[in-house]
Amino acid sequence: MSLMDRISELPDDLLLRVLSLLPDAKDVVSTMVLSKRWQFLWMSVPRLVYDDSYQNIEYGKFSRFVDRSLIVHETPVIETLHFKLGKTCSAEDLKVWIRAANKCSVRDLIIEFYCPSKEPPVIVPRILYTGCTKMLVKLRLNNVILVNFSSPVSFPSLKTLSLILVKYPDDQFVSDLLSNCHVLEELDVERCLHDNVTVFDVRVPSLKGLVFYSPQNRDSDDEDGYVINAPSLEYLALSVEDGFCIIENEMPNIAKAYLDVTHSHPGEILSSFTSVKRLYCCLSTSKDLYPVGTVFDRLVYLTLCTCEAEWLNLLMCMLSDCPKLGALKLEQVHIHSYSYHRPHQTRPLWNEPSSVPECVLSSLETLEWAGYGGTEAEKEVVKFMLRNGSSLKKVTISSKSTEPDKKFEMMKELTLFIRRSPTCQLAFD
Ligand SMILES: *[C@@H]1O[C@H](CO)[C@@H](O)[C@H](O)[C@H]1NC(C)=O
Ligand SMILES: *[C@@H]1O[C@H](CO)[C@@H](O)[C@H](O)[C@H]1NC(C)=O
Ligand SMILES: *[C@@H]1O[C@H](CO)[C@@H](O)[C@H](O)[C@H]1NC(C)=O
Repeated sequence: MSLMDRISELPDDLLLRVLSLLPDAKDVVSTMVLSKRWQFLWMSVPRLVYDDSYQNIEYGKFSRFVDRSLIVHETPVIETLHFKLGKTCSAEDLKVWIRAANKCSVRDLIIEFYCPSKEPPVIVPRILYTGCTKMLVKLRLNNVILVNFSSPVSFPSLKTLSLILVKYPDDQFVSDLLSNCHVLEELDVERCLHDNVTVFDVRVPSLKGLVFYSPQNRDSDDEDGYVINAPSLEYLALSVEDGFCIIENEMPNIAKAYLDVTHSHPGEILSSFTSVKRLYCCLSTSKDLYPVGTVFDRLVYLTLCTCEAEWLNLLMCMLSDCPKLGALKLEQVHIHSYSYHRPHQTRPLWNEPSSVPECVLSSLETLEWAGYGGTEAEKEVVKFMLRNGSSLKKVTISSKSTEPDKKFEMMKELTLFIRRSPTCQLAFD
């Protein structure tokens, strides 16, 4: 028996699973010629990827292929329908395809355009809001324009939404769209230049995970910003390089947060994160980030970025306000921040605290320092930790310097401090 015959004897559902894994619907459809057994099988495949990102040369060929294959598709439910489109597809094509998607009750719809940046993005037809909305569980849009709609858009089953480089009609549209997704759990936003939104308002009571990225140079002014009101949030990654940032509510379930916020007045941004277990912070200021008396009593893993001049201030505050801290990492991510954001800032100065913070005495087991520069203040921090960190087990220092002599000197200096805490292991690279 030939291999082909043997494969053809496998049950339908197994073959359909295999066909679902093919990266391009063309390959799925081409299996129809294999034999009689395969002739109609492709029509029932629950996951289809239509890929025109490499740009078909013959205009309209790709569109015709999608038209023909989608229209005869027979499964009652297409789990995933993924379009990777190039510039030969129009809003008109999308309309036909979204209608077909509708017929197949698509659960997971991905529409991505790969166009040269000078071409205007394609407008997503309104049928997206009226058609498959009821069944849609996952929606990802990349590099498209959304149009205004007379009544608020609602996706009653949508759990995951990605809005990557999308342009919007106005602020209200974004705010309505998000607040009308009543079961939304995951939201991923990457903003682009001139997206027509001034205040990006995320008000989603059901939201558990939010990834929000807004790059620099969106030529924003002081009016621009973000408002987040998502009390069920468990995970937040916020990377915002301009605009104000307001988190309106407590987030009692927040476990992980990644905050990279470059704005001169982030407000008391950390006061919403008192429940966090794992926190990464790279903020453009170290002052007034949370009110006096705040305790982060679940925080175990903390990473602080040292690119802001007053990082030492935030470090000492966090050490005294995080009684259970187990692992501390210091790293310098942004090289130019010192001069870029605050040209007149001075380098941090060490002040021995009046008492040793609780976590340093009882819970802090690891200290990792990436990009250690060996300045006075940095040396004092390591010295303090090695002398007073009663539960420290491991200290790992990697130097920013590439000169072997300088590195050796740093290592020698630090080794002197370690003698006093014999249970702790010091690694240097
Ligand atoms: C969008 O539609 C809403 C409701 O019809 C309207 O209030 C708003 O002004 C429109 N926005 C734009 C940018 O046309
Ligand atoms: C941008 O917003 C203005 C006013 O709110 C509106 O008239 C215009 O159509 C929007 N542009 C896009 C691309 O939606
Ligand atoms: C830290 O330990 C050193 C050496 O044991 C001690 O001299 C210093 O007072 C301690 N610091 C604090 C704040 O207690």
